[in-house]
Amino acid sequence: MNSPIRVAVTGAAGQIGYALLFRIASGAMFGPDQPVILQLIEIPNEKAMKALEGVAMELDDCAFPLLKGMVLTDSGEVGFKDANWSLLVGAKPRGPGMERADLLKGNGVIFTAQGEIIDRVAAEDARVAVVGNPANTNTMIAASKAKRLTPDRFTAMVRLDQNRAQAQLAKKAGVDLTTVEDIYIWGNHSPSMYPAFRHATIGGKPAVDVINDNAWLENEFCPVVGKRGAAIIAARGLSSAASAANALVDHVHDLMTPGKVHSIAVKSEGAYGFDPNVWAGMPVRTTTPGSYEILKDYDLSDAFSQEKIAATNAELVGEREMVAEMLG
Ligand code: NAI
Repeated sequence: MNSPIRVAVTGAAGQIGYALLFRIASGAMFGPDQPVILQLIEIPNEKAMKALEGVAMELDDCAFPLLKGMVLTDSGEVGFKDANWSLLVGAKPRGPGMERADLLKGNGVIFTAQGEIIDRVAAEDARVAVVGNPANTNTMIAASKAKRLTPDRFTAMVRLDQNRAQAQLAKKAGVDLTTVEDIYIWGNHSPSMYPAFRHATIGGKPAVDVINDNAWLENEFCPVVGKRGAAIIAARGLSSAASAANALVDHVHDLMTPGKVHSIAVKSEGAYGFDPNVWAGMPVRTTTPGSYEILKDYDLSDAFSQEKIAATNAELVGEREMVAEMLG
């Protein structure tokens, strides 16, 4: 049995936290031989901390063999201390009538502080995965505060969008989901994202040939994936939580598994039409646990792809401009 790794989770008493922590403690994220210590971070608020205590009681009551300890705290200094992974789920929600710029700036304050603290107190091999929205730009802000940790240590989650896209393609083609491969998410985790269906395969054949309905792919599939979060809110009255937690399990698991090819949002190198210095979703291959290389050989030269990439890149650049004074 390995020695335990420390996993810090912000927003641990929230919806996603409640669906996530039990999966981590059960071994779904880091595997059946990897014990964990959960470092659970909430806001300094009596109700939130009380709720967190309740979640910790339930974690105790699961008697998970891999769970070797828990820290409950409202302090980043304590919660991120020696963390090997920091999962940044907690964020300021969008209030009624709030402008996007205000949401970006409000979250910028949180991710500025967390980026600085993680850089100072987290483990040597620290990795950070951001879920709290606007995830791509929050990641950019946190990474910009780090002096010790390089930008590649900071990734944002677009895996929920990849999983959604895979499921939609399987449904349309009437095939088992496992036969759908090579569907990756490009750009922002927002309705502007591009699920590049031309690269997807179904049973080893191009998905565009199997589905044979370009109008559906362009005009229905892309918007359905992009607006799936809003559809869940409309149906459930709450935002997606179990599927988001599941996607984070996939994100980290695949980033810890050499050879896996998957979508994560990473610092752009200026390729594929993305501005350098935005965090954009794209396919990567895990090289060693926690590290990755951006895949370079995808063809996005068709007019539809170019238009989609330009739109999602413009949104990312616009977000960066709104928080420009918070960077660096
Ligand atoms: P929630 O409101 O149920 O829980 C958020 C929790 O974070 C609350 O308990 C709150 O007290 C805590 N929190 C807020 N600021 C914090 C801080 N500075 N430090 C520590 N804890 C803090 O929200 P939910 O449903 O769990 O969603 C969390 C975030 O994930 C939201 O920003 C949501 O938009 C985002 N999200 C992202 C997805 C993605 O695919 N990237 C998918 C679904 C949600």
